[in-house]
This record gives sequence, structure tokens and C-alpha cells, in this order.
Amino acid sequence: MWDQSQLRKYDLTLEAIPRLHHADPKIDEYIADNKPVVIAGSRVIRPAVDKWDMDYMEKCLGGPGLTVFVSQSHKFKYFDENKVQYCLRHGIDFVPPTRRCKMRIGEFVRRLREWKKGDDRLYLQQAVNSSVGNVVKDFMKFDWEYLAGKQAKHNWGPLSSNLLLLSMEGNVTPCHYDEQQNFFGQVYGYKRCILFPPSDYECLYPHPLYHPHDRQSMVDFDKPDYSRFPKFKKARGCEAVLEPGDILYIPIYWWHHVESLMRAGPTISVNFWYKGGPISLEYPLKDHQKVSISRNVEKMLVEVLQDPKEVGPLLEMMAGGRFGE
Ligand code: SIN
Ligand code: FE
Repeated sequence: MWDQSQLRKYDLTLEAIPRLHHADPKIDEYIADNKPVVIAGSRVIRPAVDKWDMDYMEKCLGGPGLTVFVSQSHKFKYFDENKVQYCLRHGIDFVPPTRRCKMRIGEFVRRLREWKKGDDRLYLQQAVNSSVGNVVKDFMKFDWEYLAGKQAKHNWGPLSSNLLLLSMEGNVTPCHYDEQQNFFGQVYGYKRCILFPPSDYECLYPHPLYHPHDRQSMVDFDKPDYSRFPKFKKARGCEAVLEPGDILYIPIYWWHHVESLMRAGPTISVNFWYKGGPISLEYPLKDHQKVSISRNVEKMLVEVLQDPKEVGPLLEMMAGGRFGE
């Protein structure tokens, strides 16, 4: 098991995410409401939970080029490689915080075993496809009927991808949001997830859309700069520590920070990402729909202005001091 000392410390007020048995009909109320919920005791990923650990991965996760991120710190802040060139072309400095490389599972597991303080940290994040070896067979035994039931009931779009995540203890995926619905399955070890609603957009200060860190919060949870990000104090998050077999519903556009517990060994998780359902413009708009609209406005401004540095000043000119009260 785990205790509080294995959780990183942050200056945040956090509530607990509800934890419900997989057959509890209330789960569907949460999902329909776009609210996070931990689904406990489900059979969905049971075939993996029963078998998977790092030794099993070493035997059954194949392929010459698994995607592994390398970081000098415990943080693995995602960045969009396509946007790096754009920034350099427009004179915006960007130093990638992690390095992406290709590795065989044998090398990854060996480096985890030999890891000592001060070494680079590793995080394997590989899309599941036919090239990843025998683990695919366990995937086929997942309870796809349960998943398809939820997908149909809540009018989600198609399953777009599964991501397999093999992490060292203590690794952190900093706070960000995704534009898809996510069933996050915890297979092995313990992960703590801190979530914030889309209405906390202003409190979490996302990087601009053109920036490689688009969708990522600019706030460093380890050392929040309150003079730049004063509204971070108002963020109201919720959290859960996931154990093997748990599935966390991370609603589309919800912010999430994910950490593998410290001193609790490596972790294995698998994401099920679904496209959002068809957009229904029912008023009042939902908070996540407002985020989506503001993304479109920002995208349009970058396109018409041609210079990303003009976007902020134009928005300031538009809104500054006019809509207060
Ligand atoms: C993680 O498990 O580290 C991140 C997963 C996600 O952002 O969906
Ligand atoms: Fe995510």
C-alpha cells in the first residue's frame, strides 16, 4: 500500500474524486455530467492487472523502437514537436524539457533496474498497435463490451488510441488538458491524479495555442510563481490515488496532473482515448465548450495576424478594461 509521505507536496486544496463500484449506476451520472469518477473493481483491464509487471513486459512487449521520454528532472512536460519549428521561425525561444528516443524494452527495463539518483529519468509512452508484441493478446481480452456500452450511452466518438505508459516511481506528468474523453486504466503500481475542471482555465494559465506547450499549464506546481499566476491560488482541484484495476474517467478538457508515487516502484497504465461526441449547441454552453471556442478564436487570430507576438496585445486591446464589473 502507500502513505501520504509518498505523495508530492503542493500548495493546493484538494477534494477526493468519488470512487464507485463498476456496476454502480451513478457512474453514468458522473460521465453524463462530464465529472471525474474512479471506477473500481471493473473487469475491463483485468487480463492485464492479473499478469503485467516489468518482468512480463520485458518478455511480451516487443518492437525495436518503443517511444521513451528522457528527462533530467522528475517532470515530463509534454510538447508538440510540430510547433517547435514554428516558434524558432518566429523568434520565440524554446528549450525542449525532455528528449524523445526509441528503445527496446530490454534496455528500458535494464536502465530502470540500474537507475540511481542523479541519472536521467525515463518514461515509456507507446501507442498500442500490432507491432508491440504479445501484450496485444492481453488487450484483446479486455472487456470491450463494457467500454463500448459507455461509449454508446454517452454518445462519444470512436476510440482513437490506446497509450501504454511504463513509468519510473516519482515521475510526474505536469498539469494539462486533452481534447478527448479518457478512460485511464491503472494496471500496476500506484498513480496519483489531480484534476481541475475546465472552469479553472484562468487559474491554470495555459501556454498560448501556438506554443509547443499548448494545453499545458504554465504554473510549476513545485514552485508556483504567484506574482505571474495569482489566480492559481483559486484553483479547486480533486484527486485520487489509483491502484491496480482502477479506471479513472478524465473528462474531455479537464486538467490533469499525474504522478507515480515516490518509493512505490514502477507503474504501468493504459489510456483509452475517445473522440468527443457531436457538438450540441445547447445553452448555456458547458465550460469545456467555452474552452473549445476560445481555442478556435486564438487559432484564427494566429492565422490572420501571422505573427504570434501580436495575439496577446490584440486580445488585451479587445478586452482590457472593457468587460469588467
Ligand atoms: C500519465 O499517466 O503520466 C499521463 C496520462 C495522461 O495525461 O493522460
Ligand atoms: Fe493527458
